[in-house]
Amino acid sequence: MKKARIIVDRDFVIGEIDKRIYGSFVEHLGRAVYGGIYEPGHPEADELGFRKDVIGLVKKLDVPIVRYPGGNFVSGFNWEDSVGPREERPKRLDLAWFTTETNEVGLHEFAKWAENAGSEIMYAINLGTRGPEQARDIVEYANHPSGSKYSDMRIANGKKDPFDIKLWCLGNEMDGPWQTGQKTAKEYGRVANEAAKMMKWVDPSIEVVACGSSSSEMPTFGSWELEMLDECYENVDYVSLHRYYENPTGDTPGFLARTMDMDDFIKSVAAICDAVKGKKHSKHVVNLSFDEWNVWYHSKEQDQEIWKQDKWNRALPLLEDIYNFEDALLVGSMLITLIKNADRVKVACLAQLVNVIAPIMTRNGGGAWAQTIFYPFFHASKYGRGTALNALTDSPVYSCSDYENVPYIDAAAVADNEGNVTVFAVNRDMEEDFELDIDLRSFKELSIAEHIVMHNDDVKAVNTEENPDNVVPTAGKGGSINEGRAVINIPALSWNVIRFTAK
Ligand code: AHR
Repeated sequence: MKKARIIVDRDFVIGEIDKRIYGSFVEHLGRAVYGGIYEPGHPEADELGFRKDVIGLVKKLDVPIVRYPGGNFVSGFNWEDSVGPREERPKRLDLAWFTTETNEVGLHEFAKWAENAGSEIMYAINLGTRGPEQARDIVEYANHPSGSKYSDMRIANGKKDPFDIKLWCLGNEMDGPWQTGQKTAKEYGRVANEAAKMMKWVDPSIEVVACGSSSSEMPTFGSWELEMLDECYENVDYVSLHRYYENPTGDTPGFLARTMDMDDFIKSVAAICDAVKGKKHSKHVVNLSFDEWNVWYHSKEQDQEIWKQDKWNRALPLLEDIYNFEDALLVGSMLITLIKNADRVKVACLAQLVNVIAPIMTRNGGGAWAQTIFYPFFHASKYGRGTALNALTDSPVYSCSDYENVPYIDAAAVADNEGNVTVFAVNRDMEEDFELDIDLRSFKELSIAEHIVMHNDDVKAVNTEENPDNVVPTAGKGGSINEGRAVINIPALSWNVIRFTAK
């Protein structure tokens, strides 16, 4: 059996984990809203048409914040279309996803859903086809108490108290040619600055997220962040990062190493923020919002076929990736990467939540079930709150297509206020189990409360409506702890949650 060593010291603090790193995302895209969270007439629908079985699964994930209503969708969206009497709301062609948006679900309905799910809303405004004026108007509509055109419009539409939305995205992926209203970094930076200023003048309590590059693979990545922040640094609170990984060639070791890229991406964006801070002699710190992250590739060909046959229909079954076991391992590793960077990443959204590249799937008129990736997210959201500690890991390494020196063991540690410690660990080794020596001597006496493990002999194994428990967590072998030195056995290719409780 191979061996690795982890030192977790209570004084090696990375930072307090902002619970919003366990956020998610619901876009008006495919069956995320229509046929996902909302399906009037379904046996599980509540009086508003929202599926109770879906809310039950969302609540299990305990998602503190949900980004809404897009994504690419927002860059052509008029927020006014989504409020007021439903029968008067227009149907619009959505040029982001080539579907028809009926606006049956809008801000008021989604806010009720979010409240029931126990989530806050992170609202994305349109800075593609629209600008600062409409950005100001929606903040007035959502957050101003009363006595102005848009706040009174909200009250007339049945919502006396403000929605009090605290976090706002200044558009979405504005460097992408697929975006309606794509901009250069300078153009976007100017517009974002003016929008942020006006939005904060309406409600000084809000925070705003400026669009970073759509991905670290964009040719403009880096210069985009630098140039756009030069225009808006003082008025924005976060820069967004988006990243999706894929494994089209079946290269599992290479796929599982992609979090090396994610870590690099985070550190690069943080460095650019700080460079602009230095250049401007500023005291203001801009942090990071990793507001789209996941695995996404399984459904891409299928989507092209759907569009060939069915453009402009409502709720097309788009981006319906079926996630397998190795995807769950990478998602686990991505969560570990977010925890390890808790000092700078304050918001993160698993993209997305239901049906569209999602941990939760539904069938129209049928069941709702958890995909493989549901479980690492569930564990991290449940046990990964508190203080992120630097889990110093000494592990054998491997080389793969894109990286050298990839540690077989990827780990993060979190301590809560009661002195309990949770270690999250992925074993990337395809063949060998590992003996983990976890040094916890700086803590008062700890005992092993639980070892949860996710492993499957088949990296391509999936969950389906008929077989929803094919890939699920089980009890791990655990191990022993003696005077703060724990020895835990973890299987080859596995996601592990090792919970230590203070005696
Ligand atoms: O999450 C799916 C899409 O991916 C989002 O709409 C967009 O922002 C990104 O390109």
